[in-house]
Amino acid sequence: MNKQMSPSRNEVMLHLGEQAELFSAEYLKPIETNWQASELLPLTSDDSFIQDLKTIQEQAANLSYDLLAVLVVDTITEEALPTYETWLAGLTGIDQIENNGWMKWIRGWTAEENRHGDALNRYLYLCGRINMREFEASTQYLIRDGFNNGAANDPYRNFIYTSFQELATNISHRRVASLAKQQGNTILSKMCGLVAADEARHAKAYKTFVAKIMELDPNEMMLAFEDMMRKKIVMPAQYLRELGDKVNSFESFSDCAQRIGVYTATDYVDILKSLIDEWQIEGVRGLKEDGEKARDYLMKLPERLTRISERMKLPDTEFKFNWILA
Ligand SMILES: [Fe+2]
Ligand SMILES: [Fe+2]
Repeated sequence: MNKQMSPSRNEVMLHLGEQAELFSAEYLKPIETNWQASELLPLTSDDSFIQDLKTIQEQAANLSYDLLAVLVVDTITEEALPTYETWLAGLTGIDQIENNGWMKWIRGWTAEENRHGDALNRYLYLCGRINMREFEASTQYLIRDGFNNGAANDPYRNFIYTSFQELATNISHRRVASLAKQQGNTILSKMCGLVAADEARHAKAYKTFVAKIMELDPNEMMLAFEDMMRKKIVMPAQYLRELGDKVNSFESFSDCAQRIGVYTATDYVDILKSLIDEWQIEGVRGLKEDGEKARDYLMKLPERLTRISERMKLPDTEFKFNWILA
């Protein structure tokens, strides 16, 4: 690559793409040893199926309304995976036809992620507390409506987004796991714990991609980080809705998530701080004037956001979601 001038996105991606297969080997697990939903939930062919089903439903009977709502939205978010794969496949430097290293990464990542929706969806079906048609229709809506994370087809911005988002899903699945455990639900707890561990591994991968780009093209990577944080990291289920075109679901859902502490404004700030540390933003060299300004903005941002989040009131409105059976 030309060292004098900033390299283009394409050059950087091509260069890193050569290592993308190594990334897949390091951050994705072999399919042979990956867990599958069938190992976590009873099979209809098991002799013990009826008894196992009873256990699942007894445990689910104790889950709180807010926790169920969060679980449904987590599941819908996972089920909207076609949106994310399509989005990533369209990034500059990623070539579906050539099936370059990056495309193999995306396919491998998608294939692992797909198990999350499968497992959670099956749990919702078995637990007996969900209006499945409502839940399925919301999933269909979300896939149809897509999303817009504001990163367009820029790999730098999108890798900021995915680094952030994998960490956010790790937190929310992990918290659901511990709340489920507190509410006596060992099956759900184990499942969400396993999903959370996948998310943590994926987060490591995306954080590595950003770190590598930061070495090759620091100024542009810094500007991309700043831009994504100015736009705010939106949740993939931003366009969530329920049947009958009820479109306020996402706000009501985030209120539930805040209230039960599954994903809060403080978590958003903590993720940002961890990324600033991870990429050693303070010590990045080779920045131009605008890159320096972007760095200043980023370094001050956690404190600013903390002040804002301290002023936020915890929402106490009770919501009714069509997904949950009375
Ligand atoms: Fe996932
Ligand atoms: Fe993920």
